[in-house]
Amino acid sequence: MTLLDGKKTSEAIQNEIAAEVAELKANGYKTPHLAAVLVGNDGGSVTYVNNKVLACEKVGFSSSLIRYEDTVTEAELLQKIKELNEDEEIDGFIVQLPLPKHIDSEKVIESIDPRKDVDGFHPTNVGRMVAGLPAYLPATPAGILQLLERYQIETKGKHCVVIGRSNIVGSPMSILMAKAAYPGNATVTLCHRNTVDLANYTRQADIIIAAVGQPGLVTADMVKDGAVVIDVGTTRVPDATRKAGYRLRGDVDFDSVAEKCSFITPVPGGVGPLTIAMLLKNTLKAAKQEVYA
Ligand code: GUN
Repeated sequence: MTLLDGKKTSEAIQNEIAAEVAELKANGYKTPHLAAVLVGNDGGSVTYVNNKVLACEKVGFSSSLIRYEDTVTEAELLQKIKELNEDEEIDGFIVQLPLPKHIDSEKVIESIDPRKDVDGFHPTNVGRMVAGLPAYLPATPAGILQLLERYQIETKGKHCVVIGRSNIVGSPMSILMAKAAYPGNATVTLCHRNTVDLANYTRQADIIIAAVGQPGLVTADMVKDGAVVIDVGTTRVPDATRKAGYRLRGDVDFDSVAEKCSFITPVPGGVGPLTIAMLLKNTLKAAKQEVYA
């Protein structure tokens, strides 16, 4: 069994980005600049956004963090997005999700200029991805592709079972794994909360990608010997032995599943770190105007 080391892979990608940023700057180009909009004080979201901003510094990007209380109105948020769309200093920006209930997330996402949508959530980028046109790919699925590629995992003709159909992970992942590309060329089954007998599908899977936020959902009896298992879950579960009072648990019951796998991602330290690296990569693409020439 080989552990897919997301931390190490993310560092390698960030080093590549840092080298490219240094070269851009040496050649007189502007410093890539990512802005992040964060609404409210949700612990997970605050940590993610802080990590994104820190990662920007590490690779030599400029960054801006724009914070609002969770009482911010939709109109205020839309006005800020309009400013960011028009601000030539900003190459790309993200609005951290989830947003408070009184704000229409779809409306917010649709108000982002697709050329600055480095999360790849705007319908224009989603559509371009589906059609195989140059697009910003959402960071988590793109990070999983990087893991598969850098560990040279065969995907062609394999049966890939994706669990979870979110716009952020499951749905784009299923599309990318079926594309005529490497990684890709897999036969894909997309399972979700209405799937009858999930284990019937996962047992047939060469590659399982779990992204539902249900700790320990995938157990050893659901996994074929030699399978590749990618765990996107990062649910905070109470743990009195930890200083923070919680620990992160994946959708896969790691201890029992790991021994059956050829490759498996740990939680934490698997997919999570890749997500940040891919956001930086998209921001670099935005600065270089590679996607929308
Ligand atoms: N919430 C969970 N994942 C993400 C992400 O990749 N981007 C944003 N903006 N919000 C998220």
